[in-house]
Amino acid sequence: DKGGWSSFMAKEVAEQPDAVANTLRGRIVDDAVVVPELAAFGDEALAGIRRIVIIACGTAAYAGMTAQYAIEKWARVPVTVELSHEFRYRDPVITDDTLVISISQSGETMDTLMAVKYAREAGARVISICNTQGATIPRESDAVVYTHAGPEVAVASTKAFVAQITALYLFGLHLARVRGSLSVEEQAEQVRELVAIPAKIATVLESSATVAQLAHWMADTRAVLFLGRHVGFPIAMEGALKLKELAYIHAEGFAAGELKHGPIALIEPGQPVFVVVPSPRGSATLHPKVVSNIQEIRARGARVIAIAEEGDAAVLPFADEVVRIPLAAPLFEPLLAVVPLQIFAMELSIAKGLDVDQPRNLAKSVTVE
Ligand code: M6R
Repeated sequence: DKGGWSSFMAKEVAEQPDAVANTLRGRIVDDAVVVPELAAFGDEALAGIRRIVIIACGTAAYAGMTAQYAIEKWARVPVTVELSHEFRYRDPVITDDTLVISISQSGETMDTLMAVKYAREAGARVISICNTQGATIPRESDAVVYTHAGPEVAVASTKAFVAQITALYLFGLHLARVRGSLSVEEQAEQVRELVAIPAKIATVLESSATVAQLAHWMADTRAVLFLGRHVGFPIAMEGALKLKELAYIHAEGFAAGELKHGPIALIEPGQPVFVVVPSPRGSATLHPKVVSNIQEIRARGARVIAIAEEGDAAVLPFADEVVRIPLAAPLFEPLLAVVPLQIFAMELSIAKGLDVDQPRNLAKSVTVE
């Protein structure tokens, strides 16, 4: 039931504040993160982990790439992220102090399921992040942390993505607590940021009309580029994936630092480029670098759409459009910056008269390898 919305995707995009809030529920105790499912897995076992490998596909993999920054920073454990279908076929090194985390909305993605089985056979323990109760991947795992985004029907994943990042952040903070790598006050600070996210996503949703208008102006666009840095990098790739699958437009997400290593050759007059700009307060070193990237592409004629923090005036002289997101600590910005990119892709699909919920050639869950 679309509940009065024009599409399941529109409904699911709007449900993102609840997806995050419901995923947090029951997992925060006195400003500290205690995930009961992880406590059951064994805090001692978690404390002994030397390495984490995250496996997932598509949007779920971008959730993993986003969380990699936070988990390493908070828990000081090396984290790598791999596409499930690559991981399994390259004879990866798996030791018994390796923890594998799988991420899957459906819990039925065959590539991820096979990678989970492979990892367990090789001696790793597997924790799964999943949105579907009783699905196959959770049943094949040592523990499962459910995202409580509610059923996701549209092929394009949206609310599951923010819920996956939320669950992975909860994992990271739980791990940091058992490993003692963050002080009580540092943990409380992150928890406060996390708890504030649903209301901030709601604010981003309120300003969605600007992005929608932009999409309708750009219905004839042939290619769109997305740039981001640090946690903005996976968000750039996610924005590009959404646009490919929903609007059938060629789109690429790049790490902003890579520009000069090749992609800048793609910039020609009129080329639309979305840039996820890090906060000037939170990322004092990266913010000027990204602003200077914007200047470089603008000088070559790019049409720049900046996703920037409220009050960031440095982008104004160089961006053609600025989409504002509320203030948040750097690691939490992805949960806000992704929303305008989802809406842009959805609106562009609508502007082209396409089926937003059922893009061509795609299935909601990919149950074949
Ligand atoms: O159900 P899963 O989370 O395992 O699905 C993974 C991908 O197939 C999925 O995220 C896909 O990339 C989406 N269509 C993206 O919007």
